[in-house]
Amino acid sequence: DWTMANFIDMEVEKIREQVGDRNVLCALSGGVDSSVVAALIHKAIGDQLTCIFVDHGLLRKNEGDTVMETFRDEFHMNIIRVDAEERFLSKLKGVSDPEQKRKIIGNEFIYVFDDEAAKLENMDFLAQGTLYTDIVESGTETAQTIKSHHNVGGLPEDMEFQLIEPLNTLFKDEVRALGTELGLPDEIVWRQPFPGPGLGIRVLGEITPEKVEIVRESDAILREEISKAGLDRDIWQYFTVLPDIRSVGVMGDTRTYDYAIGIRAVTSIDGMTSDWARIPWDVLEKISVRLVNEVDHINRVLYDVTSKPPATIEWE
Ligand code: XMP
Repeated sequence: DWTMANFIDMEVEKIREQVGDRNVLCALSGGVDSSVVAALIHKAIGDQLTCIFVDHGLLRKNEGDTVMETFRDEFHMNIIRVDAEERFLSKLKGVSDPEQKRKIIGNEFIYVFDDEAAKLENMDFLAQGTLYTDIVESGTETAQTIKSHHNVGGLPEDMEFQLIEPLNTLFKDEVRALGTELGLPDEIVWRQPFPGPGLGIRVLGEITPEKVEIVRESDAILREEISKAGLDRDIWQYFTVLPDIRSVGVMGDTRTYDYAIGIRAVTSIDGMTSDWARIPWDVLEKISVRLVNEVDHINRVLYDVTSKPPATIEWE
């Protein structure tokens, strides 16, 4: 009968057979799907797998380090971390249109991956975390558009790889169960959805290092408090956004003129529609006090009480 352990045994066999003594490359993002794919393939072929982890400088606080600690230090995988923050930020300079920002980040991601992959020899396969739902959805035009809009992926066109997609019969909940069975930490397995363009679409308008820092620090505080309140599995997605609004405040004896930060927290099944999460007021208050006290340049906190539709989950 079908159990996760049986599934792993079968897939491991299949991957070994398919790959033989050749090598597999994997783009690891730290997200659930790519992490589970990497862990599964690593179980099958060990050092014949190499992962490339592109850090575009728009990740959440400590995210890059967590990925490295898990995959390099605990799983002992071949993993290359590419610190490409400057490359991305310089390309994004002066750009404020959301779709333009997405496009730049998506393209740059491919160029960086491509540059790094070109340094490696004898890579025959490319592993991808395609799920069953991705395949089903890509059958319709709407879904195609949604996917191309949402995925930072897309592959370098001139690269000739055979694809390995061991998750393409699974649904998201099965992927999580598989991840747990493979020994991945809850932090990765139960990670909330995080967009490919990362914090880049949570700094509204033009991206500057200072603004990314404000979003990163505030997001870390929000996540800490949501988790302390035991709400992290009830709320589908929660994050902070930095609109380009400054307002007057008062701190001690001085008048301030600084940024307002927005909190977005939603309940949802699949992200297509959502409702705003009813975070208890005392939790909101703690978050608000910490944000203003601990994050430089924030003097006001807003809570987004709009459902989707008519709003989207992200602000850009
Ligand atoms: P929206 O804002 O469209 O978001 O209501 C729905 C879900 O999709 C995520 N999202 C993205 N994911 N690249 C991604 O990989 C993107 O450009 C992108 N835009 C939105 C969003 O975080 C939410 O989970």
